[in-house]
Amino acid sequence: MKTYLVTGATGGLGLEIIRNLAKNSKNKIIMAIRNMDKGLKIARELSPNIELLELDLSELSNVKDFVRNWDTKLDGLINNAGIQFVNETKYTRDGFEKTIAVNHLAAFMLTIGLMPHLRGGKVLFIGSATHNPDYLIGKMFGFRGAQYTSMDDIVKGKDNGASTQQMNRDRYATSKLLNTITAVEFARRYNEFETYVLDPGLMPGTGLARYQNRFMNFVWKNIMPVAGYFLPDTTSTRRSGKTAAWIMETSTNRSGEILSYNQKPNRYFWKDVVLNEKIGEEVYEDSMKIIGNFL
Ligand SMILES: NC(=O)c1ccc[n+]([C@@H]2O[C@H](COP(=O)([O-])OP(=O)(O)OC[C@H]3O[C@@H](n4cnc5c(N)ncnc54)[C@H](OP(=O)(O)O)[C@@H]3O)[C@@H](O)[C@H]2O)c1
Repeated sequence: MKTYLVTGATGGLGLEIIRNLAKNSKNKIIMAIRNMDKGLKIARELSPNIELLELDLSELSNVKDFVRNWDTKLDGLINNAGIQFVNETKYTRDGFEKTIAVNHLAAFMLTIGLMPHLRGGKVLFIGSATHNPDYLIGKMFGFRGAQYTSMDDIVKGKDNGASTQQMNRDRYATSKLLNTITAVEFARRYNEFETYVLDPGLMPGTGLARYQNRFMNFVWKNIMPVAGYFLPDTTSTRRSGKTAAWIMETSTNRSGEILSYNQKPNRYFWKDVVLNEKIGEEVYEDSMKIIGNFL
């Protein structure tokens, strides 16, 4: 039996990931989620091999309690949960800007905290090409790439002079850059487990647009899934969920690799920054300092 822990498994990509993992009756899947009612319904429908654990990633103290109580060997951790805000800058109770807190700090801390249980296993981070300023589809949706200055600025949600909407896009793109850098840096530092990044492509229809206005949400859920057939690099949660499960279940021994939804090496990541060892070290050390105050 192999045990996989998946965050944000109640909808969108996460739900498709567990659906694919659950096809193998030898897999045990643990959904680490905040909406237990939704999770229970999904587990009942999908497989008796699914368990639920409550985890709201917006507070690092929750992540601390979660990893302290963990005592089971893990074959895989999928840091899938993610959010994107639009009109408001939000902060966690700990005082961190919420996009970076959920998408980067919590995923980083969960991985570090569970590391002793992940020997011989795999960790998957979910990236996004929106972090690359040259990514065409990202530009079409108003992204201008990650705006990484320093970890201190980023976690404080420092105003960079742009509109709130633009800053929130910047924060999302920056969090995805940090996910990607983290996976590559973990692969450099740790042999105990393998790390991968999946860039799932544009997957219209998921809950990621929940903070957009009603019109944009309608377009995202009803028009984009069809229009997506004509856009490059646009896919579905079904396809990307299958790829995520494939990464976890197929032994590749290529820790640090960044893959696309089509199972091929990703072409869209920002090489100069993602592969820069000095930046990788800085992101790792600064993130460790922050989570160290909570561990
Ligand atoms: N959709 C795209 O085009 C796209 C493209 C590139 C990358 N991605 C990435 O794919 C991943 C999945 O996104 P999605 O598109 O599938 O969006 P989604 O449908 O909104 O799924 C996000 C999941 O994260 C969970 N989540 C959000 N905040 C949380 C918190 N504080 N604590 C615990 N769980 C939390 C949500 O749980 P609730 O049900 O409780 O809200 C939900 O299950 C994200 O990392 C996203 O950045 C998406």
